[in-house]
Amino acid sequence: MSRRRSKSSVQRYHDRVASRYDASYDDAYWQWHDSLTWDHIKPHLPPESHACVLDLGCGTGKWAARLLQAGYAVTCVDISGAMVEQARKKLGALAGAERASFVQADLVDLSELPTDHFRLALALGDPIGCTSAPGRALKEIRKRLVDGGVLIATFDNRLSAVDYYLQQGDPRALEAFLRTGKTRWLTKDKEERFEIHTYTPLQVRKLLESVGFEIVGLIGKTVLPMRHHRALLDTSQRRRHWAKIEKSLCRDQAAIGRASHLQVVARVR
Ligand SMILES: C[S@@+](CC[C@H](N)C(=O)[O-])C[C@H]1O[C@@H](n2cnc3c(N)ncnc32)[C@H](O)[C@@H]1O
Repeated sequence: MSRRRSKSSVQRYHDRVASRYDASYDDAYWQWHDSLTWDHIKPHLPPESHACVLDLGCGTGKWAARLLQAGYAVTCVDISGAMVEQARKKLGALAGAERASFVQADLVDLSELPTDHFRLALALGDPIGCTSAPGRALKEIRKRLVDGGVLIATFDNRLSAVDYYLQQGDPRALEAFLRTGKTRWLTKDKEERFEIHTYTPLQVRKLLESVGFEIVGLIGKTVLPMRHHRALLDTSQRRRHWAKIEKSLCRDQAAIGRASHLQVVARVR
């Protein structure tokens, strides 16, 4: 996205919330959720220390910080300049900060990044589905990865959005949503309501395969709707117990249908 053009709705929204983004995700539920996310990433981290990795839709750099601390050279990419600045601040305060770099870009145009270069790309918090063209974004990402490079990305699960349309009581809107998979981020300011592409588990597999990835794994995240039961996550012992149950369910094909998000591990073919 050219910085001279007027801001897109997704950029506007994230620019506005960037400075208070971390505070809004700072509770026991997100701690539980993040530790599940990281547990599913760890087996796919490149074995080479200092390997070049990408954090796409990096937001405030939560995952980039972990990658930097694990020894990698991290490139952070986000469409929101304010998010990139938050990430720069966060990683700048860490040991190894010189291994971090920052690019403000739309995932549908990653031409500022070298091709065939990165061992791993994370795209967490569903940035690919927020682009204008997820297939194009995936092609761009694939080009930046080396042969055998891995993408770990999350997507909104189409099935989990059905309840919202029922609450609206409008069957036509539900039909349209099920047909297109497109919904909108609900925020007060109309100028900030960006489009989100959602997928069923099968659709997300097909999408990735159609641009040259092979699927290594797909989990539902989370199958247990703990965001509605946050009080149950009040001690570390309870969080561990619920996580054990979550992990027993998250790969089950039927159970994945319940999850709000899909987390995919895909390798360049
Ligand atoms: C929900 S946040 C997730 C941030 C971070 N990955 C995390 O998990 O904490 C989604 C991020 O994706 C970025 N994003 C959305 N659409 C994008 C696009 N087309 N290109 C690049 N970044 C995008 C947003 O600006 C935002 O920072």
